Amino acid sequence: MAKIKIGVLASGRGSNLQAIIDACGKKNSAAEVAVVISDRADSYALIRAKTRGIKAVFIDPASYASRKLHEKAIVKLLQQNKADLVCLAGYMRLLTGFIIGKFKNRILNIHPALLPAFPGAHGQKDALNYGVKVSGCTVHFVVEKMDFGPIIAQVPVLVAENDSVETLAGRILKQEHKLYPKVIELFAKGKLQVKGRRVNIKN
Ligand code: GAR
Repeated sequence: MAKIKIGVLASGRGSNLQAIIDACGKKNSAAEVAVVISDRADSYALIRAKTRGIKAVFIDPASYASRKLHEKAIVKLLQQNKADLVCLAGYMRLLTGFIIGKFKNRILNIHPALLPAFPGAHGQKDALNYGVKVSGCTVHFVVEKMDFGPIIAQVPVLVAENDSVETLAGRILKQEHKLYPKVIELFAKGKLQVKGRRVNIKN
Protein backbone atom coordinates (compact mmCIF):
# COMPACT_ATOMS: atom_id res chain seq x y z
CA MET A 1 0.00 0.00 0.00
CA ALA A 2 1.23 3.51 -0.79
CA LYS A 3 2.45 5.44 2.22
CA ILE A 4 0.82 8.72 3.14
CA LYS A 5 3.09 11.74 2.93
CA ILE A 6 3.64 13.99 5.91
CA GLY A 7 4.72 17.62 5.97
CA VAL A 8 6.21 18.52 9.36
CA LEU A 9 6.28 22.09 10.66
CA ALA A 10 8.82 22.71 13.42
CA SER A 11 10.42 25.73 15.07
CA GLY A 12 12.97 24.32 17.47
CA ARG A 13 15.17 21.35 18.32
CA GLY A 14 12.97 18.86 16.47
CA SER A 15 13.06 15.86 18.80
CA ASN A 16 9.45 15.01 17.95
CA LEU A 17 10.34 15.29 14.28
CA GLN A 18 13.16 12.82 14.92
CA ALA A 19 10.75 10.38 16.59
CA ILE A 20 8.42 10.66 13.60
CA ILE A 21 11.25 10.14 11.08
CA ASP A 22 12.51 7.11 13.03
CA ALA A 23 9.02 5.58 13.26
CA CYS A 24 8.44 6.14 9.54
CA GLY A 25 11.67 4.27 8.85
CA LYS A 26 10.35 1.10 10.47
CA LYS A 27 9.11 -1.82 8.41
CA ASN A 28 5.36 -1.64 7.65
CA SER A 29 5.06 2.04 8.56
CA ALA A 30 2.17 3.61 6.65
CA ALA A 31 3.67 7.09 6.50
CA GLU A 32 6.76 8.94 5.29
CA VAL A 33 8.05 12.45 5.90
CA ALA A 34 8.04 14.27 2.56
CA VAL A 35 9.08 17.74 3.69
CA VAL A 36 10.09 19.63 6.82
CA ILE A 37 9.37 23.34 7.03
CA SER A 38 10.59 25.74 9.68
CA ASP A 39 9.89 29.37 10.51
CA ARG A 40 13.33 29.59 12.12
CA ALA A 41 16.56 29.48 10.14
CA ASP A 42 18.41 28.01 13.12
CA SER A 43 15.90 25.24 13.85
CA TYR A 44 17.73 21.98 14.50
CA ALA A 45 14.76 20.23 12.89
CA LEU A 46 16.11 21.36 9.50
CA ILE A 47 19.43 19.66 10.17
CA ARG A 48 17.72 16.48 11.41
CA ALA A 49 15.72 16.31 8.18
CA LYS A 50 18.70 16.97 5.89
CA THR A 51 20.72 14.32 7.72
CA ARG A 52 18.08 11.81 6.71
CA GLY A 53 17.86 13.06 3.14
CA ILE A 54 14.50 14.74 3.66
CA LYS A 55 13.72 18.05 2.00
CA ALA A 56 14.10 20.82 4.61
CA VAL A 57 13.04 24.41 3.97
CA PHE A 58 13.19 27.59 6.02
CA ILE A 59 10.33 29.91 5.13
CA ASP A 60 11.04 33.26 6.74
CA PRO A 61 7.91 34.91 8.17
CA ALA A 62 9.71 38.26 8.01
CA SER A 63 9.75 38.04 4.20
CA TYR A 64 5.95 38.13 3.98
CA ALA A 65 3.60 41.04 4.57
CA SER A 66 1.04 38.98 6.48
CA ARG A 67 0.56 35.67 8.26
CA LYS A 68 -1.69 34.55 5.43
CA LEU A 69 0.98 35.19 2.80
CA HIS A 70 3.52 33.29 4.88
CA GLU A 71 1.06 30.40 5.14
CA LYS A 72 0.40 30.58 1.39
CA ALA A 73 4.08 29.86 0.80
CA ILE A 74 3.92 26.97 3.29
CA VAL A 75 0.78 25.52 1.67
CA LYS A 76 2.39 25.75 -1.77
CA LEU A 77 5.39 23.77 -0.58
CA LEU A 78 3.20 21.21 1.20
CA GLN A 79 1.14 20.75 -1.95
CA GLN A 80 4.21 20.53 -4.19
CA ASN A 81 5.41 17.71 -1.96
CA LYS A 82 1.97 16.07 -2.00
CA ALA A 83 1.48 16.20 1.76
CA ASP A 84 -1.60 14.27 2.92
CA LEU A 85 -1.05 15.19 6.55
CA VAL A 86 0.58 18.12 8.33
CA CYS A 87 2.19 17.54 11.72
CA LEU A 88 3.09 20.42 13.98
CA ALA A 89 6.10 19.38 16.03
CA GLY A 90 7.05 22.24 18.31
CA TYR A 91 5.83 24.77 15.75
CA MET A 92 5.43 27.90 17.84
CA ARG A 93 3.17 29.87 15.53
CA LEU A 94 -0.60 29.99 15.59
CA LEU A 95 -2.14 28.85 12.29
CA THR A 96 -4.82 30.88 10.54
CA GLY A 97 -8.00 29.60 8.94
CA PHE A 98 -6.23 29.71 5.58
CA ILE A 99 -3.96 26.71 6.09
CA ILE A 100 -6.49 24.96 8.32
CA GLY A 101 -9.08 25.24 5.54
CA LYS A 102 -6.65 23.74 3.02
CA PHE A 103 -5.97 20.74 5.28
CA LYS A 104 -9.27 20.24 7.08
CA ASN A 105 -8.93 17.55 9.77
CA ARG A 106 -5.48 16.82 8.37
CA ILE A 107 -3.33 18.88 10.74
CA LEU A 108 -2.11 17.37 14.01
CA ASN A 109 -0.38 18.98 16.97
CA ILE A 110 1.35 17.64 20.04
CA HIS A 111 1.08 19.55 23.27
CA PRO A 112 3.06 18.93 26.48
CA ALA A 113 0.09 18.94 28.90
CA LEU A 114 -3.26 17.27 29.31
CA LEU A 115 -5.52 19.63 27.35
CA PRO A 116 -7.73 21.51 27.96
CA ALA A 117 -5.47 22.22 30.94
CA PHE A 118 -2.41 24.40 30.36
CA PRO A 119 -2.61 25.39 26.69
CA GLY A 120 0.00 27.76 25.27
CA ALA A 121 3.74 27.87 24.98
CA HIS A 122 4.65 26.78 28.55
CA GLY A 123 2.48 23.73 29.23
CA GLN A 124 4.96 21.96 31.51
CA LYS A 125 5.87 25.05 33.58
CA ASP A 126 2.25 26.11 33.95
CA ALA A 127 1.23 22.63 35.13
CA LEU A 128 4.09 22.49 37.65
CA ASN A 129 3.37 25.98 39.01
CA TYR A 130 -0.32 25.19 39.34
CA GLY A 131 0.55 22.22 41.51
CA VAL A 132 -1.14 19.42 39.59
CA LYS A 133 -0.11 15.89 40.50
CA VAL A 134 -0.63 14.54 36.99
CA SER A 135 0.21 16.17 33.66
CA GLY A 136 1.14 14.55 30.36
CA CYS A 137 0.82 15.09 26.64
CA THR A 138 -1.96 15.41 24.10
CA VAL A 139 -2.19 14.89 20.35
CA HIS A 140 -5.12 16.72 18.78
CA PHE A 141 -6.45 17.98 15.48
CA VAL A 142 -5.69 21.64 14.88
CA VAL A 143 -8.42 24.25 14.68
CA GLU A 144 -8.04 28.03 14.65
CA LYS A 145 -8.33 28.41 18.42
CA MET A 146 -5.01 27.51 20.02
CA ASP A 147 -4.67 24.00 21.50
CA PHE A 148 -8.42 23.52 21.22
CA GLY A 149 -9.12 20.98 18.46
CA PRO A 150 -10.59 17.49 18.94
CA ILE A 151 -8.37 15.34 21.15
CA ILE A 152 -7.10 12.11 19.62
CA ALA A 153 -4.93 10.65 22.38
CA GLN A 154 -3.39 11.57 25.72
CA VAL A 155 -0.78 10.02 28.01
CA PRO A 156 -0.59 10.93 31.70
CA VAL A 157 2.71 11.61 33.45
CA LEU A 158 2.92 11.80 37.25
CA VAL A 159 4.43 14.94 38.74
CA ALA A 160 7.09 14.17 41.37
CA GLU A 161 7.52 16.32 44.48
CA ASN A 162 11.06 17.28 43.53
CA ASP A 163 10.32 17.90 39.84
CA SER A 164 11.77 20.96 38.12
CA VAL A 165 10.32 22.18 34.82
CA GLU A 166 13.21 20.41 33.09
CA THR A 167 12.74 17.01 34.74
CA LEU A 168 8.98 17.04 34.22
CA ALA A 169 9.36 18.23 30.62
CA GLY A 170 11.90 15.47 30.01
CA ARG A 171 9.55 12.72 31.19
CA ILE A 172 6.66 14.20 29.20
CA LEU A 173 8.88 14.44 26.11
CA LYS A 174 9.67 10.71 26.30
CA GLN A 175 5.95 10.02 26.14
CA GLU A 176 5.49 12.52 23.29
CA HIS A 177 8.03 10.61 21.24
CA LYS A 178 5.99 7.43 21.62
CA LEU A 179 2.53 8.93 21.30
CA TYR A 180 2.95 11.11 18.20
CA PRO A 181 4.15 8.33 15.86
CA LYS A 182 1.36 6.06 17.13
CA VAL A 183 -1.30 8.64 16.31
CA ILE A 184 0.26 9.31 12.90
CA GLU A 185 0.09 5.59 12.16
CA LEU A 186 -3.60 5.54 13.13
CA PHE A 187 -4.26 8.51 10.86
CA ALA A 188 -2.32 6.91 8.01
CA LYS A 189 -4.36 3.74 8.31
CA GLY A 190 -7.61 5.70 8.19
CA LYS A 191 -8.55 4.78 11.74
CA LEU A 192 -9.44 8.22 13.08
CA GLN A 193 -13.03 9.31 12.82
CA VAL A 194 -13.93 12.85 13.91
CA LYS A 195 -17.44 13.36 15.24
CA GLY A 196 -17.77 16.91 16.50
CA ARG A 197 -15.33 17.23 19.38
CA ARG A 198 -14.92 13.49 19.76
CA VAL A 199 -12.45 11.35 17.86
CA ASN A 200 -13.23 7.65 17.60
CA ILE A 201 -10.44 5.21 16.94
CA LYS A 202 -11.64 2.38 14.71
CA ASN A 203 -10.38 -1.18 15.27
C1 GAR B 1 7.51 19.67 22.64
O1 GAR B 1 7.51 19.43 24.02
C2 GAR B 1 6.11 19.99 22.16
O2 GAR B 1 5.11 19.27 22.82
C3 GAR B 1 6.03 21.46 22.50
O3 GAR B 1 7.27 21.97 22.13
C4 GAR B 1 8.26 20.95 22.30
C5 GAR B 1 9.02 20.83 21.01
O4 GAR B 1 10.11 19.97 21.18
N1 GAR B 1 4.95 22.11 21.82
C6 GAR B 1 4.24 23.09 22.38
O5 GAR B 1 4.46 23.54 23.47
C7 GAR B 1 3.10 23.60 21.51
N2 GAR B 1 2.22 24.41 22.27
P1 GAR B 1 10.86 19.35 19.94
O6 GAR B 1 11.20 20.52 19.01
O7 GAR B 1 12.08 18.71 20.52
O8 GAR B 1 9.92 18.38 19.27
